[in-house]
Amino acid sequence: MTTGSLLAADLVIALLAAAAWLGGGAASAVRRRPLALGLAAVALIATLARAITITALARAGWWFAAEKVLIAGPLSLAAMGVAGPRLLRAPADIRAVAVPLLFAGYAATGALLVTVLHGYPASAGAGLLAVAGVVTATVISGRALGARPSRTVSRVALAVAVAALVSGTGLAVAPGAAPAVPHDHAYPTARIADEPNRRFTLTAGTATVDAGGRDVAAWAFNGQVPGPELTATVGDVLEVTLRNRDIGRGVTLHWHGYDVPNDQDGVPGVTQAAVRPGQEFVYRFRADQAGTYWYHTHSASDVGVRMGLYGVLVVRPGPVTGLDVTVPVHTLAGRPLPAPRVERVEAGVPVRLRLINTDSTTHRYALAGTAFRVAAIDGVDLRGPTPLVDTAVLIPAGGRYDLVFDAPATPVALFVDGRAVYSTGPVSTATSAWPVLDPLGYGATAAVPWSRFDKTFTLVLDRGLDLRKLLPRYAHTVNGAADPDIPPQVVRLGDVVLFTIVNRSQIVHPWHLHGHHVLVLARDGEPAAGSPLWLDSFDVRPGEVWKVAFRADNPGVWANHCHNLAHADAGMTLHLMYS
Ligand code: C2O
Ligand code: CU
Repeated sequence: MTTGSLLAADLVIALLAAAAWLGGGAASAVRRRPLALGLAAVALIATLARAITITALARAGWWFAAEKVLIAGPLSLAAMGVAGPRLLRAPADIRAVAVPLLFAGYAATGALLVTVLHGYPASAGAGLLAVAGVVTATVISGRALGARPSRTVSRVALAVAVAALVSGTGLAVAPGAAPAVPHDHAYPTARIADEPNRRFTLTAGTATVDAGGRDVAAWAFNGQVPGPELTATVGDVLEVTLRNRDIGRGVTLHWHGYDVPNDQDGVPGVTQAAVRPGQEFVYRFRADQAGTYWYHTHSASDVGVRMGLYGVLVVRPGPVTGLDVTVPVHTLAGRPLPAPRVERVEAGVPVRLRLINTDSTTHRYALAGTAFRVAAIDGVDLRGPTPLVDTAVLIPAGGRYDLVFDAPATPVALFVDGRAVYSTGPVSTATSAWPVLDPLGYGATAAVPWSRFDKTFTLVLDRGLDLRKLLPRYAHTVNGAADPDIPPQVVRLGDVVLFTIVNRSQIVHPWHLHGHHVLVLARDGEPAAGSPLWLDSFDVRPGEVWKVAFRADNPGVWANHCHNLAHADAGMTLHLMYS
């Protein structure tokens, strides 16, 4: 069983236990004896089963189980201790066990709420708050059922409730002494002096564009979705003038995966001010990384990218040989882009398909009709990629794979989630059952260039209640906090930095660090066993633990966030900052 399914199973069992205890309590309150005893038995079994799931989770990693061991564990023990003996005595009047059963129900519910609303790290405040809630609810139920709680019980309840409030709700993680990320300051740009030789102008504006044969309202660069394809050769100096015609939420250009100088990174409020309607901003950087990249707005990025403010950036090492095709996949107004493209290709022509996922969720790509190699991921060439046949690849949000092959005499087709997007003729192959490539075991290995790390950071991804805003929200959190309250990661120029990224939620988080490619060291304790993988976008699936590292060689303040842009908006964004 994977840790992801264990997390899900544990949640279901916890829910079942809480519901059964509460149901048993309610049934005994109305003297439905068999029902009450039956539900209590279910609750007991579920509570015991949780001991197994929690132990298994703790073995997979303390991050997955901390609050379950420290808060749910003691609460369940208390519940069993109070309700168990009374049930065993099987009182003549079943109503006598109503309050103990309800107590057990509140305890199970409290523990569940701690997991769902607060998560990691477990805090004393959250524990006390749960206990206070359980005791209060029990006292109130006791009163309602005519039981007179003793003075001591009431006093203890009061004391716990006060302690919980005093120690803080425990739901907000204090950033403590961590330095704040400079926001909305003045933005000095030290634009590089080199004379640009590739100039582009991108004008953002509302537009009506064709998406799969239907006109849809979009936000577009130069009236088209995707925006114009920007191409360059290594060594070129690019100058891109961004204009905003009428996008009220503002626009910027972020060069996804391109490790530009910090002041060209396009993060509004951090590296520049958003470009408002009628304004412009000029980006300039040297194209020193070859490969497949993309650009997109980073202002209101969730809606902005979804509405169409993105395009392809390809930097080639030299003149194109053979056929070089970009396939930026996107979902615009619910319709898949790009439109299917069919072209004849002479046998023997070398083909490179540059697959780009510009959506916020993973896509599955299957190339049928030929053997192929994955030549590059996230713009970086792989070492010793071997030929693959009848194998699919999963590309995370923001990620890119370059597939290469020599055109066979027979047709070839690329399917994205089962839809033919690019083909050289008719191909009818069922690809849905194909195995999926694991890039961590593909290609030829090389030694990790570092043996020690100057800085290590752990990022535990989850959901949690964020009470710091006027309106409480159910945020996507990192270490229990949501943007802008996640402490920045402070590094020094030259540091070798290790990230441990843990997903304890039920959903995939495609992780993306700006300004750097990270080298994948391990996943779930298994060292990466293929070609070195220098990624800027990688899916951390539920229950997974990734270890990645990089050298801090690009000074500035860099966004570090989930590239499911709705998650990034809902709290899952922090910053890497050079001291
Ligand atoms: Cu492609 Cu911060 O994003
Ligand atoms: Cu996410």
